[in-house]
Amino acid sequence: TGHITLDFGYKNTGSTKSAITFLDGEEGILKYRGYSIEELAEKSTFLEVSYLLIYGNLPTQTELDNFQTLISRHTLIHEDMKKFFDGYPSKSHPMGQLSALVCSLSAFYPESLVAEQTKEEQELTMIKLLAKMPTIVSWIYKKSLGHPLIYPRNNFDYVTNFLNMTFGQRTEDVTIDPVVVSAMNTLLILHADHEQNCSASTVRMVGSSDCNLFASISAGISALWGPLHGGANQAVIEMLELIKADGGDTEKWINKAKDKNDPFRMMGFGHRVYKNFDPRAKIIKKACDDVLEKLGINDPILSIAKRLEEAALSDPYFIERKLYPNVDFYSGIIYRALGFPTDMFTVLFALGRLPGWIAQWKEMHENKEPIGRPRQIYTGHTNRKYVDVNGR
Ligand code: CMC
Repeated sequence: TGHITLDFGYKNTGSTKSAITFLDGEEGILKYRGYSIEELAEKSTFLEVSYLLIYGNLPTQTELDNFQTLISRHTLIHEDMKKFFDGYPSKSHPMGQLSALVCSLSAFYPESLVAEQTKEEQELTMIKLLAKMPTIVSWIYKKSLGHPLIYPRNNFDYVTNFLNMTFGQRTEDVTIDPVVVSAMNTLLILHADHEQNCSASTVRMVGSSDCNLFASISAGISALWGPLHGGANQAVIEMLELIKADGGDTEKWINKAKDKNDPFRMMGFGHRVYKNFDPRAKIIKKACDDVLEKLGINDPILSIAKRLEEAALSDPYFIERKLYPNVDFYSGIIYRALGFPTDMFTVLFALGRLPGWIAQWKEMHENKEPIGRPRQIYTGHTNRKYVDVNGR
């Protein structure tokens, strides 16, 4: 075992070479395919960014139109998939449903199971997943309410179609507020990729066994669910609610987070790679103020979040450990203002991260990477004699 380097959590182990996302944690820089996240969030749409991540370049108008048309053709999901929704208890967590439903797409598109798919066939599978994800996500939500399902509208753009299926009604046309469409685009763009994080690494690891795209991404969704990863956006709101109900004493909760005997962590704080401000959090914090103001919402937990941030950033514990707010700290306050319930937040993260996962899966195949198979240092028993059950 002498040649095995042990690195719990792969803190210093590179798993691949990648040309998708650049991240400088010391400087707080994030770029997709060379474009700064700040510029993309301000000027682009989620569909354009999806194209950029998957194909490597921003699309021309014709490429974008073709991409949109192709996606529109695949937005429906098989009618039999509605039976899955009927089978879940109404309060079951949307992330469990999402992971299972995405994996189940492999049953409806068995051509995805063929390991030797041509490039064109593989790309069609990616398009199908991108196209069906908003339908699945909004139907999970509608089912949780017991409301009728709204079918995709192919004359709407990607984000508007998603919002219409989520907040629309079957009987009349609902105009989706442009403020909401724009906020949703920004949030999805900011979540679209983040190099070799836990879920992207999971997608690549599962995909490295030549497992189909749907199952690989379903595994990524499961990885994202945990509160140390994407599940943090739900955990942040629950934490802020708890602090509010407790009288808003932020100092008490900061002290709890610092106490090594207390399992409580400041949710939405800290990051494996960022040792400076998370650039996504900067943009989201500003968007949070803008969106709430434009929608005329006054959410008391926003002021608690700001006080918490201010107190943490001047506290030696957080300063020494370089713990800053991350992407999940303010995003939930926006999702809430847009009308989403808390348990849908991580699903929205997954919707945003989907093009990144697809791009990572595709790149892993194009690089012809070998199956992922880390080593270990064995610490168990060496030789034990088998004793029959009567003698144990
Ligand atoms: N609250 C209190 N202390 C913290 C926190 C926190 N949120 N995060 C890290 N620390 C402390 C930690 O206890 C450790 O202290 P010490 O050196 O005294 O033992 C030090 O800071 C380093 O932390 P770590 O746990 O070794 O760092 P990591 O890189 O393994 O973990 C993390 C990164 C994001 C899992 C962690 O910061 C955390 O649990 N944060 C809260 C959950 C969260 O917000 N997750 C979202 C991450 S960003 C988006 C995403 O991935 O989805």
